[in-house]
Amino acid sequence: MEFDFTKLEMDSRYRLLTNFIGPRPIALVTTRSPSGRSNAAPMSFFNVFSHEPPIVVLGIQPRLSGEEKDTVANIRRTGEFAVAMVDMALSQQMLVCGLGFDSEVDELEVAGLPTAKGAQIDVDCITSAPCSFECRVERLIEFPRRVLVLGEVVHMHVRRDCLDEAGRYVNPEVYQPIARLHADNYITSDRQFVLKAPAIADVLKADESGE
Ligand SMILES: Cc1cc2nc3c(=O)[nH]c(=O)nc-3n(C[C@H](O)[C@H](O)[C@H](O)COP(=O)(O)O)c2cc1C
Repeated sequence: MEFDFTKLEMDSRYRLLTNFIGPRPIALVTTRSPSGRSNAAPMSFFNVFSHEPPIVVLGIQPRLSGEEKDTVANIRRTGEFAVAMVDMALSQQMLVCGLGFDSEVDELEVAGLPTAKGAQIDVDCITSAPCSFECRVERLIEFPRRVLVLGEVVHMHVRRDCLDEAGRYVNPEVYQPIARLHADNYITSDRQFVLKAPAIADVLKADESGE
């Protein structure tokens, strides 16, 4: 089937994009509310787009009522947010944080998530997360139905067991983030495999011999 996105209605575009572009990593985003409480919400329109500068991007749409989500309002006001990566152990609490609580409800408290003050920003970070990133807003890109938040990572926390002995590379036996597929379908990264690129010369040789 072919779909002309220039003619499709918004709901169909959303359905097709989110059904087929995945798995998408989940950022459990924490921010500070106007009264100083913590706010947390999961976002799967999320990824890393640069290391120089180190930039992550969130895509946040308004609520069905048209109102801005607390995460965006807080980010606009404070210019700061933290992203916790989500693994299986955090999955249920992540879903609780995604419920539509009133603005002044501290989702971290409701979900029973332990936190600590950020090292470089005034936002609480989730200490039970395998890793988290403290971010300052680099810029906001505004669309009528979505705000793209570009955040510069200023600090990273990693649980020691998620790293190898030298503390340089990930330990894939322990760090196994979950990601969103379509609707309520998720996937975890517990079946990792190594895929090595062949040498160009070998590819050309195989091509010449018609293999
Ligand atoms: C796994 C998952 C991923 C989500 N991803 C997004 C997203 O990328 N953008 C978005 O606007 N809402 C997303 N949501 C919905 C928000 O988390 C939800 O609207 C939340 O209540 C917003 O909270 P806030 O008002 O405290 O910001 C997602 C929800 C779940 C469960």
